[in-house]
Amino acid sequence: MAIIDKKNRYQDLVKLLNQYSFEYHTLDNASVPDSVYDSLFSELKKIEAEHPEFISRNSPTQRVGNVVKGGFSKVEHASRMLSLNDVFSEAEIVEWFERIKKIDPTLEDIFFADIKMDGLACSLIFENGEFVRAVTRGDSFVGEDVSSNVRTIKNIPFFLRAEKEFAFFENGRTEVRGEIVILKDDFDKINKVRKEQGDPEFANPRNLAAGTIRQLDPLITASRPLHFRAYDIIRENPKEIKTNEFAYLALKNLGFSVNEQAKKIIGIKKVVDFIEFWSEKRKELPFNTDGLVVKINNRDKFSKLGIVGKQPRAAIAFKYSPEEATAVVSDIVISIGRTGIATPVAVFAPIQLAGTTVRHASLHNADEISRLDIRIGDTVVVFKAGDIIPKILRVLPELRPKNAEIFNFEKELSKQFPEIEFYRPEGEVAYRAKGLNSELILKKTITFYASKAGLDIENLGEKNVNLLVEKGLIRDLADIYNLQKNDLLKLERFAELSVNNLLQAIESSKNPELAKFIAALGIRHVGGETAKILAEKFVSFENLQNAELEDLLSIDGIGEKVAESILAYFSDDENLQILNKMFGFGVKVQNFAKNEGVLSGKNFVITGTLKEMSREQAAEKIELLGGKFQKSISKTTDFLVIGEKVGATKISKAEKLGVKVMDEDEFLKEINAN
Ligand code: IVH
Repeated sequence: MAIIDKKNRYQDLVKLLNQYSFEYHTLDNASVPDSVYDSLFSELKKIEAEHPEFISRNSPTQRVGNVVKGGFSKVEHASRMLSLNDVFSEAEIVEWFERIKKIDPTLEDIFFADIKMDGLACSLIFENGEFVRAVTRGDSFVGEDVSSNVRTIKNIPFFLRAEKEFAFFENGRTEVRGEIVILKDDFDKINKVRKEQGDPEFANPRNLAAGTIRQLDPLITASRPLHFRAYDIIRENPKEIKTNEFAYLALKNLGFSVNEQAKKIIGIKKVVDFIEFWSEKRKELPFNTDGLVVKINNRDKFSKLGIVGKQPRAAIAFKYSPEEATAVVSDIVISIGRTGIATPVAVFAPIQLAGTTVRHASLHNADEISRLDIRIGDTVVVFKAGDIIPKILRVLPELRPKNAEIFNFEKELSKQFPEIEFYRPEGEVAYRAKGLNSELILKKTITFYASKAGLDIENLGEKNVNLLVEKGLIRDLADIYNLQKNDLLKLERFAELSVNNLLQAIESSKNPELAKFIAALGIRHVGGETAKILAEKFVSFENLQNAELEDLLSIDGIGEKVAESILAYFSDDENLQILNKMFGFGVKVQNFAKNEGVLSGKNFVITGTLKEMSREQAAEKIELLGGKFQKSISKTTDFLVIGEKVGATKISKAEKLGVKVMDEDEFLKEINAN
């Protein structure tokens, strides 16, 4: 993105996020879910990190919380109520610890972790064991006195139950911090009643809790079941509380609810295990949570590590990937599926959703595109829950580039597929390619895959392909690798020998060269030469599969038409399923290897056991010298290396195919001489 575009994007984001923030904090009436705010916010933070010169005084990164509403008196916090930095991956948790360990090399890997509750932070002040005041976080320095409302919360004690080693908390000032939440069950009950009474339902427990705590009528507050869970306790003399583990013990003993799930964890690896353990199970908790909090257990070390901006270094919030996030649509590609139906797909840079990486979402048909009015360049909200296929929920029109054109599906079809005629059958939403049906497309796909332009699989010519498709033995490309001898023998045209030959040829095609495999797939506009360029550039099939529009366009010799066609191929979930099925049947595409050596252009098959090395070691050595290791013998094989206990049939087959046979000693001489 050009710098001027980036600046515009930055300013648009600042404006929109401030609007969202106002709706959320001041009006208690958010128009978008937190995850949408969060993903735009992290984009903003990224731009600010790259371009500090852009940072505006009014950027939402420049404050904690929001405007304090009138009505409640203001109270200064004895110590600031900080927030936490978020991380989104396990790797970032490990990096966080490495970073602070550099600052304090004596730091031990002893942590205290808890569930991060989705409510609002509150501080409770106790003087000589008696509750005197409750204050919201506010702007981290000054909050609001919400004591009268907090008094309605049944699980907050008015007097500390100070016993034994915790008795000292009864003397002087004790501050307890925690989260005010509304439990999911209570929230559902409240909304059920509102629905029955015809009142509008509340959006989520967090907003309801925040709205309730700022209620001016305590009667309304009392009728809403707020709940408090503590996570911190502070004394004037910090030495009285040495660890966070002790803090939680004290809180529990003094009469506060704390999460039973909170615990001391030794070793950063165990922290990662804790994160994984809660990733699904958190959904069973009685309150909403989107992550975990991880702190250094030793409180002296914690405070010595200090604060950066508004966040302490020694604690971090881990956020599970949300089910909704934003993405910028880089292209809308059209894929002609196996049935001849044209399906538009929105393509974007990868985002994390519900634990998986998502880089495209089907737009289903032309009607869906018009309904969403989605255009190339749009920022969209993408949704994915669990196993559900990602879906575009809506466009954020505020972030639409000025020159974004309405997407004209029919025009695109005729531009991208000039040779195909499309029609829209009565009562259907989809466009279909005329004269193409699923059987015809399948026959063509398989024949091409097995042809000389593809993987050159002997005995799998057009006639046989047609027969296998018609008999239902091949329903997709992957089925080639699942043909069973018994089924084939039942076919008229196949005798034992031809079945064996066919299966053998198929077996030999399981380790294709990258360029050959790419070409064999029959991706539109990707012929042999383009496939070679792609193989050299991306090295592995996986890299090609994950390539983004810019990656493709940056290659010499790849234009927009080709790039879009490749994207369309890999954005079609059906294609991805078939590819995975092929890999499941043992197809392993070789990585592109530019090894030039004495064995360049020579293909080897090894049979029997070698004395000096394993087959894997031999394969590695062959490839290192520029040669190719094949799983089984075919007419492309140059050498058959025979180890011990090899049957005569193998050797005679090699000889028939004109393959040179060598024993282990000759082979060793060949590779060791070089
Ligand atoms: S510890 C320096 N523990 O998350 C703040 N916070 O972004 C240390 N929160 O302001 C906070 N559950 O309102 C902590 N188990 C938990 C929490 C928790 C929710 C909130 C809290 C805090 C924010 C940090």
